[in-house]
Amino acid sequence: MARLKILTFPDPRLRRVASPVKEFDKSLIKITENMLETMYGENGIGLAATQVDIHKRIVVMDLSEEKNNPKIFINPEFKVLDDKSLFSCEEGCLSIPGVREEITRPDKIKAYWQDIDGKNYEDEPEGLLAVCFQHEIDHLEGKLLVDYISPLKRDRIRKKALKSVI
Ligand code: NI
Repeated sequence: MARLKILTFPDPRLRRVASPVKEFDKSLIKITENMLETMYGENGIGLAATQVDIHKRIVVMDLSEEKNNPKIFINPEFKVLDDKSLFSCEEGCLSIPGVREEITRPDKIKAYWQDIDGKNYEDEPEGLLAVCFQHEIDHLEGKLLVDYISPLKRDRIRKKALKSVI
């Protein structure tokens, strides 16, 4: 296993739209292992392949306190079941270090994904799992949590990030 480098905002590669996984082979297993190691190494609870410059629809997550419950979602998708039921939560992102923002998202969703062997699953996640699922799918679409805040605030975060790189 290897830890991968996480792209940070405003890196344009974070804006690429990921392609569906079609081959459920050894290289997919290796990618998910490396993504999990990277996520745990950074104390994250979720990571999308886009964040490590792999533009395939792969997400890993572990919401457990003990960090012993890794979850892998291949080709994850969701549909909103009730667009009036919303949930607000302070979100952070490994690609935007030091920033936490209150984001409002639909609370009732139906989630679809495949496992590492290509088997299909569906579920109705709630609370933090529903938030995390949507946050990570945003990454696969090239969308970031800063897209939910005001342009002025986003610009401030961008300038700060660029300054810390230089
Ligand atoms: Ni993120």
